[in-house]
Amino acid sequence: MKLLVTGGAGFIGSNFIQYMVKKYPQYEIVNVDALTYCGSTDNLTAVEKNANYRFVQGRIEDKAFIRALFEREAFDMVVNFAAESHVDRSLEEPGKFLVTNVLGTESLLEASCRYGVKRYHQVSTDEVYGDLPLEARAMRFTEESPIRPSSPYAVSKASADLLALAYHRSFGLPVTISRCSNNYGPYQFPEKFIPLIISRAEKNQKIPIYGDGQNVRDWLHVADHCSAIDRILHDGKPGEVYNIGGNNEYSNLELVALILEKLKKPESLLTFVGDRKGHDRRYAIDPAKLERELGWKPSYVFAQGIEDTLRWYQENAQWMEKRLNGDFQAYFAAVYPEL
Ligand code: NAD
Ligand code: DAU
Repeated sequence: MKLLVTGGAGFIGSNFIQYMVKKYPQYEIVNVDALTYCGSTDNLTAVEKNANYRFVQGRIEDKAFIRALFEREAFDMVVNFAAESHVDRSLEEPGKFLVTNVLGTESLLEASCRYGVKRYHQVSTDEVYGDLPLEARAMRFTEESPIRPSSPYAVSKASADLLALAYHRSFGLPVTISRCSNNYGPYQFPEKFIPLIISRAEKNQKIPIYGDGQNVRDWLHVADHCSAIDRILHDGKPGEVYNIGGNNEYSNLELVALILEKLKKPESLLTFVGDRKGHDRRYAIDPAKLERELGWKPSYVFAQGIEDTLRWYQENAQWMEKRLNGDFQAYFAAVYPEL
């Protein structure tokens, strides 16, 4: 079995490769990643010497590169994580998101069809459903919820999903799609909320809270996202969409308070800043289909998952420092002029 993982040098992709390399030593796993600002082979040192793992640098929207790669490698399965993934950046440079997330996905779908891939899995997000009101706590996203993306990032992910479904319907490509809630865990780039809180709290720096801080996210440990994709890749039905989530909602203020308490840092670090444009109010995923049809269940309890995560960032302070230097300083100054 030969598996192509794209975007495997990023947060979730690197966790997925580590999981798959160990779980399926008989699989040959090839990681294609452009190594953008947030991707690094540092995230894969644990597996880089394994005989069943290889890294190839390249961009998924580069059709000549992708076609040549597929022709040479004859992949059985493809899992596409490669993406521009940060909502704030999509508000500054939407075009970049369309190139990687839409054209890149189309390039992979085309090559998968042409070279007879037996399973193409598209890693998508709950953000394609837009948001839910804070007041209606019983409402959750199901696979039948309307596609109503808010940000350019979410639009690009929704477009990629629709393309993948069109390749299934029009050309018979065996496609599956997963839409997951917010992930947390090791190797997440510090532009994202949880590693940003940790990195700043450790240095007693102000922590930016957008708007009123009441926005709700549904958090899942990255290891549980990986096990869900594994399940869908092997047992999911072609043409189907599966929601992934752990029924674990927190408002941003609740989340930051919990982390600060565990780090023994004062809540006076919280600093309210201007709201994100178009900021989605609440995400909540109903994972019943995945649980019922494929028997998946998350293994992490949030309190434990977040403690393990805090420990990982504390034990890997150099990893974090490397990411906070250089370009990140200019990015931070542009997004958070108040701080
Ligand atoms: P990330 O930003 O940490 O990693 C993205 C990776 O893709 C990086 O290694 C980057 O170098 C690579 N990449 C970017 N553009 C590329 C291109 N043109 N060609 C090849 N590689 C390219 O993202 P992440 O948080 O690990 O997310 C991975 C996937 O999971 C994305 O598709 C994202 O939409 C989806 N997702 C993320 C979350 C989350 O909470 N982080 C939740 C649900 C779904
Ligand atoms: O729901 C899945 C999505 O989760 C993925 O598709 C995205 O790739 C991923 O980035 C994530 O999107 P969010 O926008 O929800 O994540 P982020 O970590 O950027 O923000 C989480 C919440 O915290 C959100 O309500 C915005 C808020 N926030 C974020 C930052 C960076 C702040 O209040 N302050 C901040 O500085």
